[in-house]
Amino acid sequence: TLPTKIGTTNGSFVDRMLHGNKTMVLFYGSQTGTAEDFAQRLAKQAKRYGIAAMVVDPEETEMEDLQRLVTIENHLAVFTVATYGEGDPTDNAQEFYEWLRQDANDLNGLHYAVFGLGNKTYEYYNAVGKYVDRRLSELGAVRVAELGMGDDDGNIEDDFIAWSAVFWKNVCQKYRLVRDTDESTMRQYKLIKDIFPQETIFTGEVGRLKCYEKQKSPFHLRNPFLAPILANKELFKPDSLRSCLHLELDLTNSRLSYETGDHVAIFPTNDSYLVNHIGELLGVDLDEVISLVDFDEDAQKKNPFPCPCSYRTALTHYLDITSVPNTQILKDIAQYATDESERALLTLMGSYSEDGRIKYKDWALDGCRSIVVILEDLPSLKPPLEYLCEVLPRLQARYYSISSSSKIYPTSVHLTAVVVQYLTPTQRIAKGVATNQFRRMYLKEYDPKPIFYDNNNNDETSFCYRLPIYIRKSTFRLPFKFQTPIIMIGPGTGLAPFRGFIQERHFQKIQGKPVGETILYYGCRKRDEDFLYEDELKYYESEKTLELHVAFSRDQEHKVYVTHLLRLDGEKLWKLIINNNANLYVCGDAKHMSRDVQMIIVDIAQLFGGLTSEGAMAFVKDLIVKGRYSQDVWS
Ligand code: FAD
Ligand code: 2AM
Repeated sequence: TLPTKIGTTNGSFVDRMLHGNKTMVLFYGSQTGTAEDFAQRLAKQAKRYGIAAMVVDPEETEMEDLQRLVTIENHLAVFTVATYGEGDPTDNAQEFYEWLRQDANDLNGLHYAVFGLGNKTYEYYNAVGKYVDRRLSELGAVRVAELGMGDDDGNIEDDFIAWSAVFWKNVCQKYRLVRDTDESTMRQYKLIKDIFPQETIFTGEVGRLKCYEKQKSPFHLRNPFLAPILANKELFKPDSLRSCLHLELDLTNSRLSYETGDHVAIFPTNDSYLVNHIGELLGVDLDEVISLVDFDEDAQKKNPFPCPCSYRTALTHYLDITSVPNTQILKDIAQYATDESERALLTLMGSYSEDGRIKYKDWALDGCRSIVVILEDLPSLKPPLEYLCEVLPRLQARYYSISSSSKIYPTSVHLTAVVVQYLTPTQRIAKGVATNQFRRMYLKEYDPKPIFYDNNNNDETSFCYRLPIYIRKSTFRLPFKFQTPIIMIGPGTGLAPFRGFIQERHFQKIQGKPVGETILYYGCRKRDEDFLYEDELKYYESEKTLELHVAFSRDQEHKVYVTHLLRLDGEKLWKLIINNNANLYVCGDAKHMSRDVQMIIVDIAQLFGGLTSEGAMAFVKDLIVKGRYSQDVWS
């Protein structure tokens, strides 16, 4: 087949492969960037074996062309696909997933491999990876390596490394290849230092150039709305050493709408202290403007982030400088440590050896060593900043369960965010990116201010902070019928979407609708410390809209959790579920809480429904499948 759209950024990936003599293509289904990062790493590793590879976002291409990929000799398609939420594909892999389900597709002779990214704390562990792997085979494609599965609850980096070793072994056998070069010295991007015209320079936009100055709807992931912050309040009591903030973001004039239970995504910015610190550690002028351009002219993405921009912009808005770098990055930067022992440490952690794996876990992961900490702890390590910008992952949007009802607040979204701060084993205080940005805004210490000034008002005293946001639809919804009782279980910030649910049920009630029981199991540490929205909840309780149960875990000697209260109320809850078709909702911590709650419901089904252990588990699974047991959980 003749290429049709040679050299275009989008369009046919097969044409671009033919144009650039590429044989390997890597598709990623990524929500938080890890799957994309794995695809990039495999593409980089491919160079060692003399394979020219290309990374492709399935959303930006025509996936039907997989059928044409077989015409390329020695082709290989690799899929690194994450499972999100309730066993769903990521946003960018949605269309591909739908396409794959169609029966008419024939992928006979296509060579492929799949690595799935999932989290064992979730019900549908790696559902998408498993499906893609199985479905490709059903459609006639030939597996080159067994399905790999990474567990984000364990050590996904380890899982990926172990799988990639097997993968490359299989690829080498199949295509009769040998390793000929080491990829780590190779650069992917060309550094351009130039006098760039001011109007071409990005200043933090996630989407189109100057999109924050001239905002144009529709607003979405690639064109976020710069939402003014209408309110930013502390929710914890004054004596608390921790902080939880209530934010209200204005949607007026954005044409954005949401439904109760949706999520808001926020693009955060890094702390200017950390950004400046990197500049100092590396002795670089952060205001220098650069552009990084892929050497491969057929690459789908020409730049690793919006370019040109200053180093300061890249480090503030585009790059993840606070999480622990992966082993590939450590391997890449090792060459820039002049001290032999420092170089040896990085090389060891970047090697695929057992010792390296242990050292990486111990020194880097458990030590919570971000790139900033690594540069501090290894003083001879001085990678060129443009190289660091090339290898560091992109800073990702953070999601929050909207804590308001769209019926009551159609033009604003509320969110409830607990500020992440913790002491690391090296006695440093680590701070979560987004929540500490909210905190600095709350304290009016946020820097830089300029692009967040209210455009209509140049008066510096009345500036208004803004946050780039978009709304992500969820499936976490109130029941269709008002009469259906709801049982909500949400300790900590898991309360967030339930605040919206309760507001909405109250709204329906005062409109005279027949609203069913609205029961909340909420948990926090101490009544006088972290009882979120206490007054509001008490109000709805006094209005008889809400039946409130609170578990204070630290107000007495022994722990009391929502799970304890659920067990005590088991008989009543069972009757509501069985006789009144009550819906269950769980929100908050995915790691322990949601699992424990599910086990309690299974127990209740056994105790009060007389079911066997298997029968009770099947009963709960059935509630989940029927949409009567919904979870909005995160880890
Ligand atoms: P980050 O910079 O992302 O840092 C957090 C990371 O720090 C953690 O992932 C962990 O790796 C590390 N870390 C944290 N504590 C420790 C520790 N003690 N020791 C070692 N490492 C640690 N959050 C809310 O507050 N409210 C919500 O309503 C809410 N809703 C969500 C809904 C969804 C669908 C999802 C996916 C997440 C939700 N979250 C919510 C979580 C939220 O998205 C962010 O993850 C959270 O606010 C932290 O973001 P951050 O940028 O401040 O921290
Ligand atoms: P703890 O921190 O005292 O252990 C919000 O985080 C509340 O949830 C806190 O009171 C916390 O208690 C509690 N919590 C911790 N683990 C839990 C679990 N597995 N199930 C229910 N609640 C839990």
